[in-house]
Amino acid sequence: MEPSARPDDGRLIDRYGRVATDLRVSLTDRCNLRCSYCMPPEGLPWLPSPDVLTDDEVIRLIRVAVRLLGVREVRFTGGEPLLRPGLTRIVAEAAALRPRPVLSLTTNGIGLDRLAPGLREAGLDRVNVSLDTLDGERFARLAHRRRLPDVLAGLAGAAAAGLTPVKINAVLLRGVNDDEAPALLRFALDHGYELRFIEQMPLDAQQSWDRAQMVTAAEILAALQAEFDLQPDPVERGAAPAETWLVGGVTGVQGPARVGVIGTITRPFCGDCDRARLTADGQVRDCLFARHESDLRGALRSGADDDELARRWRVAMWGKRAGHGIDDPSFLQPTRPMSAIGG
Ligand code: 5AD
Ligand code: SF4
Repeated sequence: MEPSARPDDGRLIDRYGRVATDLRVSLTDRCNLRCSYCMPPEGLPWLPSPDVLTDDEVIRLIRVAVRLLGVREVRFTGGEPLLRPGLTRIVAEAAALRPRPVLSLTTNGIGLDRLAPGLREAGLDRVNVSLDTLDGERFARLAHRRRLPDVLAGLAGAAAAGLTPVKINAVLLRGVNDDEAPALLRFALDHGYELRFIEQMPLDAQQSWDRAQMVTAAEILAALQAEFDLQPDPVERGAAPAETWLVGGVTGVQGPARVGVIGTITRPFCGDCDRARLTADGQVRDCLFARHESDLRGALRSGADDDELARRWRVAMWGKRAGHGIDDPSFLQPTRPMSAIGG
């Protein structure tokens, strides 16, 4: 279908009736961990600095998204977004936009204990912290760095600063931490954090993902049900990727305690997707698994005005495919790894 078939709608619509209102902004592809499902132990060649959007460029594109494209929620990702020196200012500028977007951050938690109060002050609403294991040795094996205490301190700091509900993202890997689902839930309940498991996705730079090795949503649920009373959550799921359950008899920070499972592979939710992505080097991605990107940085740097940037962004999103296609025999992993896309 030609882009000309697009109806006159200011929002980020696609031809399957979806509207992207949730923008994920990657602020850097660098990271201080090396989670094996994301990066090789030796790291990756980072984006050259001149290619990375400046703070002012990032702020400008967020402004276009909020003012002209109907974006309501902005999530900062990486790599590790806390490594971006201008993060607090970027958050503050985004919080000053009207309508004020909901602002969140996906982080590995390292340094968050120190940064959380300032980020809260700048207008950040909440955080998701990645935590896959509570065992220091496993953490070192999984992330190739001995940083578990820093992550735990980051979680506590986020809660203390009021970046709540603090959510935890956990990925289970066969033979590494696949027995840890109940322990992670116990930990989350004890601390008032909201835990969500994410099925491992084919997004690692090494391209070593193997469906047969993946710990599935069904398996995670079965492991949790063996130790907890899980009831289906009556709250509408909407565009949220996590299917959630209420944990019987436990009260959380905001009402009953919940646990979520994001079954990207075995329970895809592409039909309800409301996300758009912007990489640190100014490329629009309409999907985590997209193999095509649309360059906004070039237009931005050659003097395009806000309306022109918005027009290009709309065209980019109109081309979004119906689904991730991981089950198609022709599926190819994106050429960028997760660290350069943003979660
Ligand atoms: N599969 C599933 N989740 C992943 N993440 C990073 N890479 C993968 C992958 N291959 C998660 C991180 C973090 C968020 C950005 O995405 O653990 O929580
Ligand atoms: Fe870093 Fe996140 Fe990738 Fe782990 S998953 S290496 S914390 S960017």
